[in-house]
Amino acid sequence: MWIRWAVINGAPGIMLRKQARNGNPLAQYLTDPAARENPYPFGDRIRARGRLLSVPYAYVSADHEICRTILRHKDFGATAPAAFDVPAPVKWVIRATDPKLASPVEPPAMLMVDPPEHTRYRKLVAQAFTPRAVTRLRDRIGAVTSDLLDELEQRENPDVIGDFALLLPIAIISEILGIPAEKRDDMLEVGHAGSPLLDIGIPWQTFRDANAALREAQDYMTEHIAALRADPGDNILSDLATGGELTDTELLYSAALIAGAGFETTVNLIGNGVMALHRHPDQLALLRAEPARWPAAVEEILRYDSPVQMTSRTALRDIEINGIRIAEGEMVALLIGAANRDPRVFDKPNAFDITRGNAREHLSFSSGVHACLGASLARMEGAIALGALYERFPDLRLDGTPQRRGLLNLRGYQRIPISIGTRSQLAAG
Ligand code: HEM
Repeated sequence: MWIRWAVINGAPGIMLRKQARNGNPLAQYLTDPAARENPYPFGDRIRARGRLLSVPYAYVSADHEICRTILRHKDFGATAPAAFDVPAPVKWVIRATDPKLASPVEPPAMLMVDPPEHTRYRKLVAQAFTPRAVTRLRDRIGAVTSDLLDELEQRENPDVIGDFALLLPIAIISEILGIPAEKRDDMLEVGHAGSPLLDIGIPWQTFRDANAALREAQDYMTEHIAALRADPGDNILSDLATGGELTDTELLYSAALIAGAGFETTVNLIGNGVMALHRHPDQLALLRAEPARWPAAVEEILRYDSPVQMTSRTALRDIEINGIRIAEGEMVALLIGAANRDPRVFDKPNAFDITRGNAREHLSFSSGVHACLGASLARMEGAIALGALYERFPDLRLDGTPQRRGLLNLRGYQRIPISIGTRSQLAAG
């Protein structure tokens, strides 16, 4: 495990920090603590240097069109750690030390496999996430939101993240997976420990804790799936488990991916939305006057402060993009959060404007074959949660200093202390 950390995180971390000092703009983006606070100036600097930049060991783009093209390109595939453009012995170590953990960011998680394997796999899981299946969840999301707001009202020191934004998606995703309510705290712990795996150069202890948490989650999920096979419930994971078309391993990795992706991202959509609206009271006033604008506001929140900031792709063969030749096996870092601020596509990109006509062109849910499977669910949760929060508490204000999560890729807050003032008569009635 330690060797694996050293190869995947320790050595790259040291190398990246050195590269950052030498002026490599991708390394600066990945390692500078200021980028965790505000990554957008770093993205702007990368875009200003070129639409697609060659840097040591990789390429990088913060350009909307280039990112979108590469995400949709059949000659680019997912980047799994063993596919990094590193010397053969290092690849061997990565493979040999594979802990075979059901990690959402390791193959055969859907996110990490390419067509045609991905196509078969995604089709099966997507059957459970049809717009109809998701619409059926609307009432449930509304009911859970309302209960959570009742509880939030009773808190002495309410925190939008811990008392609301995190609890809604975890409740919904647990129901989708048939996981009992008493297991939610464990899921939160696994999500918390596992999320740093999406960053590069994480410390050894963080890596070790993440793997230990994933191991426990895997043991639980293996038993849970067996139990659902024997006695299926009325939930999406039971449907997948009894469909008979996914192998045990695929099912396990799908459940891990849906569990992690299902709440570790949506929490940030809600939290980043609260902060954007706090900083732009005129936009909040518009929403209060015209609540039908919430779905459009959610698109602008996703564009303005993307819960997922980056992904990557690896060239499956030699290819030329924007006049630059990328060789088979080379990796491109795609800064989707920064691409959402590309002035070629979004007028005044740093302005938060819920009336923006093309906000939905953001890349926050990625694009192409891996485009987020939970996008309609996340959109619905975001609009219902934020709409109900501000309807219920018209005097909602920040009450203390919000604390960032401190991760680069999953961008959001750990804590947003609020005061809720008096309850709306409308909602109370
Ligand atoms: C605001 C909330 C969310 C955001 C910003 C988000 C973002 C993303 C992104 C960027 C990707 C693709 C990454 C890439 O192309 O490399 C992705 C994939 C995925 N997401 Fe989401 N996601 C969200 C919510 C959800 C939810 C609620 C679920 C599940 C119920 C979910 C399930 C998935 C799955 C299964 C994939 C893999 C799809 C594939 O590889 O074909 N996501 N998501």
